[in-house]
Amino acid sequence: MKLLITGAGGLLGSALAREAENRGLEVVGLDRAALDVTDGPAVRAALEEHRPDVVVNCAAYTAVDRAESDEAGAAAVNRDGARHVAAAAAATGALPVYLSTDYVFDGTRKTRYRPDDPTAPVSVYGRTKRDGEVATAAEAPEHLVVRTSWLYGGDEGFVPAILRRARAGEPLRVVSDQRGRPTWAPSAAGTLLDLVERGARGIWHVAGGGECTWLDLACEALGGAGFDVDVESVTSEEFGAAAPRPPYSVLDLTATEQLLGRDMTFWRDDLSRFLEHRDD
Ligand SMILES: NC(=O)c1ccc[n+]([C@@H]2O[C@H](COP(=O)([O-])OP(=O)(O)OC[C@H]3O[C@@H](n4cnc5c(N)ncnc54)[C@H](OP(=O)(O)O)[C@@H]3O)[C@@H](O)[C@H]2O)c1
Repeated sequence: MKLLITGAGGLLGSALAREAENRGLEVVGLDRAALDVTDGPAVRAALEEHRPDVVVNCAAYTAVDRAESDEAGAAAVNRDGARHVAAAAAATGALPVYLSTDYVFDGTRKTRYRPDDPTAPVSVYGRTKRDGEVATAAEAPEHLVVRTSWLYGGDEGFVPAILRRARAGEPLRVVSDQRGRPTWAPSAAGTLLDLVERGARGIWHVAGGGECTWLDLACEALGGAGFDVDVESVTSEEFGAAAPRPPYSVLDLTATEQLLGRDMTFWRDDLSRFLEHRDD
């Protein structure tokens, strides 16, 4: 199987390229400089040149707060980029895989969100990602949408950021009224490839097992890394981020676990593995 990855310089794109290579798959990883997904003709030319079986679209505008004042920029990548990738994939016989997010849900429920639950994003980022899901399905009847949540790995995402702040002796204020599923990028990459290999189509959820708040995640990461520091618990309102977040965006993993015949790794276990393997 030949895999083409867009946004291959990002957190998930780079983890996916590594995991796919470890599995002996043929991988073409294109970072933003090599392929800008907002350029439709360039996307089509890249797929015609490389002729992949599967295109995993990891290119994304992920600055959730910045998107609130740059809707056009976020939509160009998350919605229009998705359309270009899916259309080129459909035209060249490849399967498009679109990465999406728990932020397509409003998080007002207290029960886990299943893949077929109605979406109701509360932020510009969430809306543009939902629009990317819709565009992918419209352009390519045969497609895969993989929603994940709270990703971290390498030097990217919340966990490395909180460890950097602790190391720098900066004050730590962490939100305690949002619940979700932390996800280690290498685990998400492996599960995504498992879904592709099992022939999954439509929308699937991929995340770490269990659930927690950002405060729980911060305390677990700081303790595991040996920091004995104070962490101030704040509400979303006190934190004052530009973009609203869903208070409860826990993705239901039942369908994924049933298809693959295994449970997703519990978030604390993946966090321990991340802390063991980090090189600082
Ligand atoms: N991070 C999370 O917590 C999280 C949670 C749920 C879902 N997701 C989804 O998972 C996917 C991967 O996210 P990630 O965490 O790996 O994000 P990331 O680290 O920000 O990676 C996204 C990559 O896309 C690139 N990119 C941006 N605009 C592009 C364009 N026009 N053409 C080509 N590449 C472009 C970025 O390049 P630059 O760095 O040069 O901008 C970056 O390398 C995304 O679809 C995201 O929405 C992420």
